[in-house]
Amino acid sequence: MAGNKNLNSAARAKNDEFYTQYDDIQRELNCYYLYDENFLRGKTVLLPCDDPQWSNFTKFFALNFTRYGLKKLISTGYAADKKKFVYKPMKNLFDDNDAPQFNPTIDAAHGRIYTLDADDIAKVDYPLDALTNWRYLDGDGDFRSEEVKRLRDEADVIITNPPFSMFREFLAWIVDAGKQFLIIGNINCITYKEVFPLIMQNKIWLGNGMGRWISGFIVPDDYELYGTEARVDERGNRIVATNQCLWLTNLDHGKRHEPLNLMTYAECERFHPKVRDTSFQRYDNYDAIEVPATDAIPKDFGGVMGVPITFLDKYCPEQFEIVGATESEGAGFSNGLWHDDSQYRQATIGGKKVYKRLFIRHRR
Ligand SMILES: C[S@@+](CC[C@H](N)C(=O)[O-])C[C@H]1O[C@@H](n2cnc3c(N)ncnc32)[C@H](O)[C@@H]1O
Repeated sequence: MAGNKNLNSAARAKNDEFYTQYDDIQRELNCYYLYDENFLRGKTVLLPCDDPQWSNFTKFFALNFTRYGLKKLISTGYAADKKKFVYKPMKNLFDDNDAPQFNPTIDAAHGRIYTLDADDIAKVDYPLDALTNWRYLDGDGDFRSEEVKRLRDEADVIITNPPFSMFREFLAWIVDAGKQFLIIGNINCITYKEVFPLIMQNKIWLGNGMGRWISGFIVPDDYELYGTEARVDERGNRIVATNQCLWLTNLDHGKRHEPLNLMTYAECERFHPKVRDTSFQRYDNYDAIEVPATDAIPKDFGGVMGVPITFLDKYCPEQFEIVGATESEGAGFSNGLWHDDSQYRQATIGGKKVYKRLFIRHRR
């Protein structure tokens, strides 16, 4: 992957082997726990697409099994033979190649499954020691296989950083089964036709952070480290930073119920640096005013406002209603706000294109 300057969607689409850091998992999960410490109590959590022998998801949930009151933890990994990029991964949680069940003749072709329940945890002093009780899956661990689908159906909650190249299919796999979930995706997924309608209906939402909230991903040994925030951590893991990712979920958390503190229309016109020179402008081709930044949303405007998609990071469904988005993927997102004779899907002002927008209005 030499030559990459960005952890952009193209690079990520080619390489699914980006691993999540422990701190990022902990920071996100803590927010749900602080909001409701019983949010996973008595539940079966499935971590698919997870390479459990070195995954920080598996490590985090094994270490927090008792604190979270889990009923069962299931973690599955994808066969090495099926991965597009195979590399010696980051440091293993345990040296499982010495395990009696390790079989070099089938190892590369089969996925693995690790399960933990309260009895397993009770038998060991340190929760990770209970994870030595793994076995091979019958198949390769593909999330689309009948074998892993059965695990999905058994689970209450599905948590992972899925393969970037299969994000849409993976989300559909969860939604079709009506499961609770918490997954990592690219910011652009907000305007996918499989995602935005669910966000608009408040069936799914952003987790606690996007962009720099996820501080980076662990990458293969031969992956070029680029950018000022790329680093090697104290355990020797190579980390590439990105501001392009977010957590997507249907688990409730406190941040989404915190309303924004906003200025009035007149105050924005007077004080907001992105509004004071031009005031609020109307789009040529959508029935809405342009609000160029989330903190410039006027608190006393009754009509429809176009806002950057990063607004979702601050979206409180008690404060705002999402009424649409600029057209994307021919999906009819604009809900009648678009003048389709304009030819442009993107919103324009004075003929000049504006980046993707969501359309919102205040709830009164
Ligand atoms: C982005 S990585 C994340 C791994 C781990 N969940 C983490 O966050 O550290 C996605 C993983 O999914 C695996 N994968 C790719 N295609 C898959 C499939 N069809 N079924 C299951 N896993 C797959 C990749 O090999 C990779 O290990």
